[in-house]
Amino acid sequence: LHIIHIAAEMAPVAKVGGLGDVVTGLSKALQKKGHLVEIVLPKYDCMQYDHIKDLRALNVAVESYFDGRLFKNKIWAGIVEGLPVYFIEPHHPSKFFWRGNFYGENDDFKRFSFFSRAALELLLQAGKKPDIIHCHDWQTAFVAPLYWDLYAPKGLNTARICFTCHNFEYQGSAPASELASCGLDVHQLNRPDRMQDNSSHDWVNAVKGGVVFSNIVTTVSPTYAQEVRTAEGGRGLHPTINSHSKKFIGILNGIDIDAWNPSTDTLIKVQYTANDLQGKAENKEALRRHLGLSSTENRQPLVGCITRLVPQKGVHLIRHAIFRTLELGGQFVLLGSSPVPHIQREFEGIAHQFQSHDNIRLILKYDDALSHAIYAASDMLIIPSIFEPCGLTQMIAMRYGSVPIARKTGGLNDSVFDVDDDAIPVQFRNGFTFLTADEQGLNSALERAFSRYRNNREFWEELVHKDMNIDFSWDSSAAQYEELYEKAVARARAMRQ
Ligand code: GLC
Repeated sequence: LHIIHIAAEMAPVAKVGGLGDVVTGLSKALQKKGHLVEIVLPKYDCMQYDHIKDLRALNVAVESYFDGRLFKNKIWAGIVEGLPVYFIEPHHPSKFFWRGNFYGENDDFKRFSFFSRAALELLLQAGKKPDIIHCHDWQTAFVAPLYWDLYAPKGLNTARICFTCHNFEYQGSAPASELASCGLDVHQLNRPDRMQDNSSHDWVNAVKGGVVFSNIVTTVSPTYAQEVRTAEGGRGLHPTINSHSKKFIGILNGIDIDAWNPSTDTLIKVQYTANDLQGKAENKEALRRHLGLSSTENRQPLVGCITRLVPQKGVHLIRHAIFRTLELGGQFVLLGSSPVPHIQREFEGIAHQFQSHDNIRLILKYDDALSHAIYAASDMLIIPSIFEPCGLTQMIAMRYGSVPIARKTGGLNDSVFDVDDDAIPVQFRNGFTFLTADEQGLNSALERAFSRYRNNREFWEELVHKDMNIDFSWDSSAAQYEELYEKAVARARAMRQ
């Protein structure tokens, strides 16, 4: 199959969160299966250009429509992680992707509706005949209505559209009139069964457009796919999801097992495997020294937390976990920053309070190398999310032998299984979970983990060994996407005949 992803992120060149990892991981896995996979991204000024190979400007100028005019786009091509990528650089006075920032601009709706249209224009003008166009999150959900309204009639008509929503909290709503900028027909689309926002008659909703107009709609775990069909989880979109439920499915993400591999990882002190946990112990020592934590007690559990500090991640429970770990005599290392100023300030306060403490360190920034060191060093990783469409850190943690302590929600519920849960076959039990998003819930899981760690060494080492051997690669998830793509393509073929 010829598969083209149109996305706002791709790791490692343009990564804000898990979306970037998924675009790269899924694409690599599909390419390995023999498919032709290409990716279209905006040409952000703030990309990690050193990860792009053979970057060159193409000798074509794609003109795309916006706000009643045509704008020239310079097209660049390059290779990222072995994948062919096109980068679109619009010649538009608003300098859409020249802001030193991926998201969070006041005109994001314009920036990404522009990009969605320019990406389709590129495919049309380059004569591409993809079988699947796969768009992700609200930023490129515009691709679905644009394709059927404007591009399929123009001849870019071989494709089926797949839309993946990685988080229904972010839907891309705007006053309906804004939809006209990229050439969509506001009167046709601002209707309850199309793109009209479910809570306001004169607003439109990009994710709703993705759900309504795509052939395949996915989200990133089976449990989250159930949750978003309820009023609480769907953030207002549950009626739409429910009326399109036949084409909607949850597929658990994988992780990039080459990038996250403790036996080859050069960002950690000592490489190690599941059969040699001495190496893991050395990483723990190294991190303690690096951060100035005490290391007198070998049996003192080290709890890690690697996260963006946003309400979704259970910020109040993270704060509680720091203090509870301290009371229980453990060590705690937090790595992460917050885009929310008052949360960032609050954690800076805690960091300051403990800056020379023996057992606590808060590092309030994004630091890829340090994240590897913490996965390798920690005995447990805490993930108390309020909701979590998939979550990747629990899988990375297990690969590094750090046992997850997670709340049972979304993708965490599909990948972390409590060691004491009799309903789960023993061989699948791999961590500690809790249900209620409160301090008691978290305490119960944390205390059970500490007690196992301290009192039953053999049990713990077996658990670490088991976790490190779980297969979280993209292979099986990519196979599920492949099957969906192939069915959709076959249906389209049958219809044409
Ligand atoms: C979003 C979700 C996260 C998921 C990621 C990749 O960031 O919040 O749960 O793992 O997308 O799909």
